[in-house]
Amino acid sequence: MIEERLRALAAQTYAVTQAHEAVTQELAETGRIQEGLLPDEKPDIHRWEHDRGIGSWSGGRSPGIFKRYAVVRRHDNDDIQKGSMMSKSILILKGSPRKHGNSAALADQIYAGAKKAGAEVESVYLSGLEINPCDACDACQEGDQGCIVQDDMQALYPQLKAADVIVLASPIYYFTITAQIKAFIDRWYALEADHGSALKGKELAIALVYGDSDVYTSGGINAIHTFESIARYIGLKISGMVYGTAEHLGDAEKQPELMTKAFNLGEKIAV
Ligand SMILES: Cc1cc2nc3c(=O)[nH]c(=O)nc-3n(C[C@H](O)[C@H](O)[C@H](O)COP(=O)(O)O)c2cc1C
Repeated sequence: MIEERLRALAAQTYAVTQAHEAVTQELAETGRIQEGLLPDEKPDIHRWEHDRGIGSWSGGRSPGIFKRYAVVRRHDNDDIQKGSMMSKSILILKGSPRKHGNSAALADQIYAGAKKAGAEVESVYLSGLEINPCDACDACQEGDQGCIVQDDMQALYPQLKAADVIVLASPIYYFTITAQIKAFIDRWYALEADHGSALKGKELAIALVYGDSDVYTSGGINAIHTFESIARYIGLKISGMVYGTAEHLGDAEKQPELMTKAFNLGEKIAV
C-alpha cells in the first residue's frame, strides 16, 4: 500500500519536474528568464527588483525537486503576467513655446529612436494646452477624486499613469526649466497618495537645450538637479539625459552628434 503511494508520489514528482523543466527551457529560449543565484547570493539584482517594487523572484528552490531556480526580469515578469510580449509606452512632453525649436528637435529624435525600437510613443506639446498651476486646494489629497482643476491636465493624467517612460524636453529659461514644464510637474501633486505617487517606479528621460556655452553657465545644471530631486522623491528612475548648447532655431539640427545622442536615448528607453 505504502509502496503504491510512494510510486504514485514519485510519478507526480517526475511530472511536475518535467513541466517545470519545459517551462524554464521555453523561457530561457525566448530570453525571458535568467538562471542565477538565490537572492542572498546576488544582492544587487535582489535589491534592484525590490527597489522597483514591481519585479519578483520566480522559481525558487523546492526541496528535493528543483535544483534550478531563476529570476524573471521586470518587464519579462510583466509580460508573463499579461500573457504576451508588450511594447513599452512612452509619453514625451515638449516644454518650449517654440513648436519647432531645439528642444522639440531633440524630443523628435527621441520619438524616432523609440519608435524604431518598437515602443508606443505619444508626443504632447504643452505650450498649446491650458495647464494651470497647482492652486494648493488640497482636494486631491482628500478621497480619491484626483485633481479638481478642470483644464487640459485632466486628459494628461491617464496618459501619465499609463506610460512606462516619461520624457520631458525643456529649454533653459532663466537658469532652469520653463514655466510650462514646471506647471505640468506641479500638477503631479494630485497623483500622490499615502502609499506614494502613482508615477512611482516609472522611468524618466530628459532633453535640455540652452543658449549659453555649457550646462553650468546656462543653468542647465539647475534643471538637472531639479529632475534628480523629483525623481528621488517620487521614485522615478532616470533612464538618460541629453543636453547641449543650441540657441537659435535650427541650431540643434546642425549638430549631428547631439541629434544622434537623442535618437540613441529614444532607442534605449524603448527596451
Ligand atoms: C525667456 C528666455 C530665457 C532664457 N534663459 C536662458 C538661460 O537662462 N540660459 C541659457 O543658456 N539660455 C537661455 N535662453 C535661451 C534658450 O534656452 C535657447 O534659445 C533654447 O534654444 C530655446 O529652446 P527652444 O528652441 O526649444 O525653444 C533663454 C531664452 C528665453 C526666450
